[in-house]
Amino acid sequence: MRIFSGIQPTGQKHLGNYIGAIRQYVEGQDKGDPAIYCVVDLHAITVPYDPQRLRSNVYDTAAILIAAGLDPSRCILFRQSDVREHTELTWLLSSVTAHGDLNRMTQFKDKSAKQRELVSAGLYFYPVLMAADILAYRADMVPVGDDQRQHLELARDVAERFNERFGEVLTVPDFTIPEVGARIMDLQDPTSKMSTTAASDAGVVRVLDPPRTIEKRVKSAVTDSGAEVRRAPDKPGVTNLIEILSVVRGSTPEEVEAEFDGQGYGTFKGAVAEAVVEYLAPVRERYEALRGDEAKLEQTLLDGAERARTIAAEVLADVRDAMGVGPAA
Ligand code: AMP
Ligand code: TRP
Repeated sequence: MRIFSGIQPTGQKHLGNYIGAIRQYVEGQDKGDPAIYCVVDLHAITVPYDPQRLRSNVYDTAAILIAAGLDPSRCILFRQSDVREHTELTWLLSSVTAHGDLNRMTQFKDKSAKQRELVSAGLYFYPVLMAADILAYRADMVPVGDDQRQHLELARDVAERFNERFGEVLTVPDFTIPEVGARIMDLQDPTSKMSTTAASDAGVVRVLDPPRTIEKRVKSAVTDSGAEVRRAPDKPGVTNLIEILSVVRGSTPEEVEAEFDGQGYGTFKGAVAEAVVEYLAPVRERYEALRGDEAKLEQTLLDGAERARTIAAEVLADVRDAMGVGPAA
């Protein structure tokens, strides 16, 4: 089974990224044939960004992934822009992508509504580049968080439309969204997902935050009226904390509810804070050891790109041939 996923090098990765996605990447690396993980710098340029910081953000993200447990000798870890097949395939796939489908993408609508400057055509084309990332490797399985569902459905539609029009060349990818933790919510506003672009930092726990910050943010998380530690639609704050604790402990939400039955929110939040600190501490320590050696990170990404390119180049040759682009094979 070939596994593929991508992660943006924007800002610092947060607990939502870790629980919704990175955790699944690590689990997948020995199941993948191979497992391929890509730091998507070309997606990051679709919104205003600082060119001086993009490269260093790529190293930050790569170091977090390795610190989380990805082993570049057991998976392929690379930077998207190093494998030019992604951009070429984006254009080729645009011919089987419905303009109307792109108009329906909620992430485009949300991001463009928030944009004060230019709403770039790149932001509109973002899902096509994402489909190209996946289809260039004939990936069978794509681990993502819940917010990527619509993009994955588009990638499947594009692959199906391509195959109908040009023959069975591409693999229609499945995707996996974790049962618990697919949508970690902002601790201050538990009706919105935890996000890199949150208006305030207070509800966001970053993977690299110092223990005291994590503790403070979790302990001051917004809880709901009542005092019961129980998941309910009208208790989004408590529900979120139950999910977080169950994931970091490796237990079920039911077990968490049973354990804290009859105890107040204060005790419960203290336990969540402690568990999250413990969960992230080894990642932060390994990150600190890795991030200093940029030359080594760069070499790791370049080696990954070389291996990725071998696969993507073959798929691109098939795509061009099927589409009648370039000389006959
Ligand atoms: P990004 O940082 O946008 O590249 O996201 C990387 C991965 O993290 C994607 O698979 C997202 O679906 C996932 N993700 C982002 N935010 C959350 C969240 N709040 N809860 C769970 N997963 C998330
Ligand atoms: N759009 C994804 C996100 O923001 C990142 C991404 C880019 C991706 N290419 C991908 C995820 C391919 C899975 C597969 O989270």
